[in-house]
Amino acid sequence: MQVKDKYEVVIDSFDINGYGVCHIDKKIVFVEGAMENEKVLIEITDDHKKFSFAKVLKIIEKSNDRITPDCPYSKVCGGCDLLHMKYDVECKIKENKVRQTLRKFNYKENPIIRNDNIFGYRNKIMVPFQRDEEGDLIYGFYEKMSHRIIPMDKCIISNDKSNQILFYIARYLSVFNIRIYDENTNKGLFKEVMIRNTALNEYMVVLVTTEKFDFSGLIDYLNKDFPEIKSIWLNINSKNTNVVLSDQYIKLYGNDTITEDILGLKFNVSAASFMQVNHDNCEKLYSEALRMAELNSNMNVIDAYCGMGSITLNIAKKVKKVYGIEVVEQAIINANKNKELNSIFNAEFICGKCEEKIKQLVSKEQIDCIFFDPPRKGCEKAFLDTVVEMKIPKIVYISCNIATAARDIEILEKNGYKLNEVTPCDLFSRTSHVETVCLLDKNREQIK
Ligand SMILES: C[S@@+](CC[C@H](N)C(=O)[O-])C[C@H]1O[C@@H](n2cnc3c(N)ncnc32)[C@H](O)[C@@H]1O
Repeated sequence: MQVKDKYEVVIDSFDINGYGVCHIDKKIVFVEGAMENEKVLIEITDDHKKFSFAKVLKIIEKSNDRITPDCPYSKVCGGCDLLHMKYDVECKIKENKVRQTLRKFNYKENPIIRNDNIFGYRNKIMVPFQRDEEGDLIYGFYEKMSHRIIPMDKCIISNDKSNQILFYIARYLSVFNIRIYDENTNKGLFKEVMIRNTALNEYMVVLVTTEKFDFSGLIDYLNKDFPEIKSIWLNINSKNTNVVLSDQYIKLYGNDTITEDILGLKFNVSAASFMQVNHDNCEKLYSEALRMAELNSNMNVIDAYCGMGSITLNIAKKVKKVYGIEVVEQAIINANKNKELNSIFNAEFICGKCEEKIKQLVSKEQIDCIFFDPPRKGCEKAFLDTVVEMKIPKIVYISCNIATAARDIEILEKNGYKLNEVTPCDLFSRTSHVETVCLLDKNREQIK
């Protein structure tokens, strides 16, 4: 088998990321965009000893579960990889991804929490700008595996008004011929736009540039048509790196933060705060995590990796005391403000790395339950060791990367915990990413 070889095949199944799977001469081939049971003509795109990748050249017998993607950029954009299938199939693929990754454990598997709005759900959009070969201004998302921008008018999974604001900004930059950054020469001014919105209909715009610039004309122009924009910031990032936002922010207009409502509590959200990108399913995810924890007013709880305190303060409503730990200083500043905003007195926020800061809680008091919501790389081993040492009876693990969660759960199971219950949640519809909430527990007697 070689790259560019063509084969007519029948797809046996889906893999955990929604690729079609077939076998050619005993070799497994992952076919992007192919559906289970379809007969397709494929071309090999990447060949390895034990497996290969291929793309579909022609669909010979089409699956009934195939749909026409609602997005005109689906073939080229690296964003949504499951647009070509019915939503029911997407949910089954996500449930299977969690099941396969956790297959060595024995637990109760709950059905996926579905998303009622599979389009327009994203409350954060980050869009780079470039000049194309003709010198025209383009903005959009990066082509799969490249740094070439696919020009687009709107992103269908992002909030509609954010798409409109983006369009206005692009028109302004184009009319006023603002210098656009060129990553090849590291010259130019304007790099990227971030827009955030909340369920309370407040919007924040962050303009990313290489240096200070007077955007008062743009601000007037935006304010006239978008009264919902409550906060505009400049982020200055002169470095030629993949990290879009630096920590140098200058406020250009309005409030420091925008306000979100999560399960009846108010949260001030800053440009740098972590906030789940799908508000409605974030509420369902948190509710599921809270249900699993069976909290009561005698309990002391830790919320590790707490961000701006959105889970912490919802825990606080039900328990005696909750400690939130988070490494980003600005997030802890926001968390403390959010605590005041909601008149909550039984939450304490600690700034620092969980693996270091959790130690100061070891001897303080008995902790009855711990929530973890780490980034994609999962938890540090030192953090898990301390959790084990603290004999915390119950763990609620929220994960955006089931592979690293499985690694951490294995460590916890080897140390006396048991994975009891797992619920996948669709926070990222039309993409193959899945969020999961897992309950691990053990009787205090057994942990001794
Ligand atoms: C997936 S977010 C979860 C935030 C929050 N629980 C929420 O739902 O909004 C992960 C958070 O962990 C923080 N973080 C990353 N590594 C950390 C570490 N070693 N110690 C503490 N916090 C960390 C990040 O800054 C981020 O806010």
